[in-house]
Amino acid sequence: MLTEFEKIGKKAIDALKNTSGAEELEQFRIKFLAKKGQITQMLSQLGKMPPEQRKQAGQLANKIKSQITDAFEYAKKSLASTTKKTDKLIDVTLPGQRIEAGRPHVITQTINELLEIFARMGFGIAYGPEVEDEQHNFISLNIPTEHPARDPADNFYIDENTLLRTQTSTIQIRVMENTAPPIRVVAPGRVYRPDTVDATHMYMFYQIEALVVDENISMIDMKSTIDQFIHAFFGPEIKWQLRPSFFPFTEPSAEVDLLWTDKDGKSEWMEVGGCGMVDPNVFDAVGIDKEKYTGWAFGFGIERLAMRKYGITDIRLLFENDLRFLNQF
Ligand code: DAH
Repeated sequence: MLTEFEKIGKKAIDALKNTSGAEELEQFRIKFLAKKGQITQMLSQLGKMPPEQRKQAGQLANKIKSQITDAFEYAKKSLASTTKKTDKLIDVTLPGQRIEAGRPHVITQTINELLEIFARMGFGIAYGPEVEDEQHNFISLNIPTEHPARDPADNFYIDENTLLRTQTSTIQIRVMENTAPPIRVVAPGRVYRPDTVDATHMYMFYQIEALVVDENISMIDMKSTIDQFIHAFFGPEIKWQLRPSFFPFTEPSAEVDLLWTDKDGKSEWMEVGGCGMVDPNVFDAVGIDKEKYTGWAFGFGIERLAMRKYGITDIRLLFENDLRFLNQF
């Protein structure tokens, strides 16, 4: 009888080893552990045994039962945990989730493109501080004390002698102070003016300055460089013009206009910057020999260039960080 018990136990363990999945496990439970199962039946035979054998047989039968029950519970548990894992498996046939990648702001993209175009034309890059002194923002640029441009209402003064620069022309001065000609640089950067904000004005915006100083530099060099740059940036179709103007640091001076055509086909000239031949007074201020050297310079508004290129009609869109706008570039 005892070996009979052991045989049933071994049979149950072997059977359990061969089960896989919930259904087979349930079959196992019915076959061995349910009321009419073989293990339960085994225990019920104990009563029929002679009393002297009953104790030893009972111990063995209970031991086998608890081993089988434990093994069954263990199998059930591990089945449950693998089922859980299976639930989380990724269905590789589903379309993927798009990861939103960032990108440079349209102004940064524009600056990079401008720098690339000028690099191809042999220009280096210069930068200067946004917090400037009057010397670089005005005095060396031939803007005298009584000039209206120095009115405190038109500038962000920090103290009597310090202000947020109003133009990247300050970088011209810094470059000429530190470099002997020949000079050929562009200088992008932020500038600040207390303008009332509207579709074309902002209190902070970007300019790109250019400066060329060498022997025998003429206005023709300036005009052809601007022409090459404008066509490289906007394509062959764009129309532009030079319009005579005045700036204290250039003589003669001109403004650069681009032809802008709106949605209704109406065209008008849009001013994007100023330019001219470096004024001899500026050369004096930075200690460059005005008898030997001539030069030209320009300063363009970067937002205006980007607006014309991409058909943006309101400068405020460039500073609002609305992703619906930014994602278009
Ligand atoms: N600094 C001028 C402005 O902000 C633009 C300008 C005009 C820059 C003539 C130049 C220049 O370099 O030659 O309005």
